[in-house]
Amino acid sequence: MAFVVGIFFLCGILSILYLVSKGRSERCECPVATVLTRFPSSLLNGTCCLNFTGSLFNHVPWAAVNYATELKILDLSFCNLTQIDSITVGSTPSSLQELYLGQNQLTTVPHDFLSDAYSLQVLDLGNNLLEDLPADFLQNAKSLRVLLLSGNRLHSLPSSVLRPSLQQLDLEDNPWACTCSLVEELQGAPRRNFSTLEGLVGNLTCVSPQSMTGRSVWSVQAREVCRLPGLTALFIVLPLLLLLGLVLCWCCGKSPLCNLTCNSCNQCGFSFCVHWCLHMHVML
Ligand SMILES: *[C@@H]1O[C@H](CO)[C@@H](O)[C@H](O)[C@H]1NC(C)=O
Ligand SMILES: *[C@@H]1O[C@H](CO)[C@@H](O)[C@H](O)[C@H]1NC(C)=O
Ligand SMILES: *[C@@H]1O[C@H](CO)[C@@H](O)[C@H](O)[C@H]1NC(C)=O
Ligand SMILES: *[C@@H]1O[C@H](CO)[C@@H](O)[C@H](O)[C@H]1NC(C)=O
Ligand SMILES: *[C@@H]1O[C@H](CO)[C@@H](O)[C@H](O)[C@H]1NC(C)=O
Repeated sequence: MAFVVGIFFLCGILSILYLVSKGRSERCECPVATVLTRFPSSLLNGTCCLNFTGSLFNHVPWAAVNYATELKILDLSFCNLTQIDSITVGSTPSSLQELYLGQNQLTTVPHDFLSDAYSLQVLDLGNNLLEDLPADFLQNAKSLRVLLLSGNRLHSLPSSVLRPSLQQLDLEDNPWACTCSLVEELQGAPRRNFSTLEGLVGNLTCVSPQSMTGRSVWSVQAREVCRLPGLTALFIVLPLLLLLGLVLCWCCGKSPLCNLTCNSCNQCGFSFCVHWCLHMHVML
């Protein structure tokens, strides 16, 4: 009896040990950083985490990342990166879950960057010099939980990044332009309403246009910044018409010589007449 109980006990302990070790091997443990001066041309196959924090890279040939087929975590923060080399579609390992690119000097990312990062959950692009992001950025990152974009130079945001799956979205310290498109985007964010997105994002301040400077992005109403297209056209066309009228009155109404020429060249065409009149007026 004691023998049977002992066997059961042993089996229990062994299976617990097996489950623990299995769980551990599925979770990716990152090593401490390997500091390099040049991005390695070939990456180790089969590693789940590459940590190059603090290296001095300047640029990353992103195509090289493709070879790390089991890569889940890539840490390239504090690498003095100024550029990510142009991307060929299919160059992101489909296993990639976390990408850290914060505290660099990126001013832009390539057009198709991360367009195939289907498993991406965490992306840190904070504290760079980004001025804009590609249209449709992250549109396939269906499980994105964390997106850090604070401390950049962003004026606008592609609506594709406002994924419903987000649990953390950092947008602070950017010179947001509170234009119609930004306000409408934030209001119309998918499966969220204004108040919940505000809760997620926190305080954002408008830097431009001038009339909105210092206002909270959340306090701006769409009707304040979205002008009707018809009205805009009118505001452009109306001054032009006025100017034209003024020029005509000024040159054809004032000088008798001009009057004469204008009358005589009525058939020659309107614009020639205006030119001629202006010319005569300057000469007189
Ligand atoms: C990379 O290494 C640094 C220190 O060596 C550590 O602080 C950082 O957390 C590591 N990155 C990841 C993603 O674990
Ligand atoms: C990495 O693995 C892939 C297949 O999984 C293989 O084709 C490739 O040659 C390997 N690269 C290296 C450097 O071992
Ligand atoms: C970082 O990159 C810039 C521009 O490429 C360079 O001027 C600077 O020296 C680099 N910083 C370090 C610490 O190497
Ligand atoms: C926004 O969402 C919250 C909670 O999800 C809900 O209580 C609230 O009624 C919503 N507001 C609008 C205007 O839809
Ligand atoms: C947001 O700003 C308002 C006023 O500008 C302030 O009262 C509030 O505490 C701020 N909230 C956070 C989370 O910083």
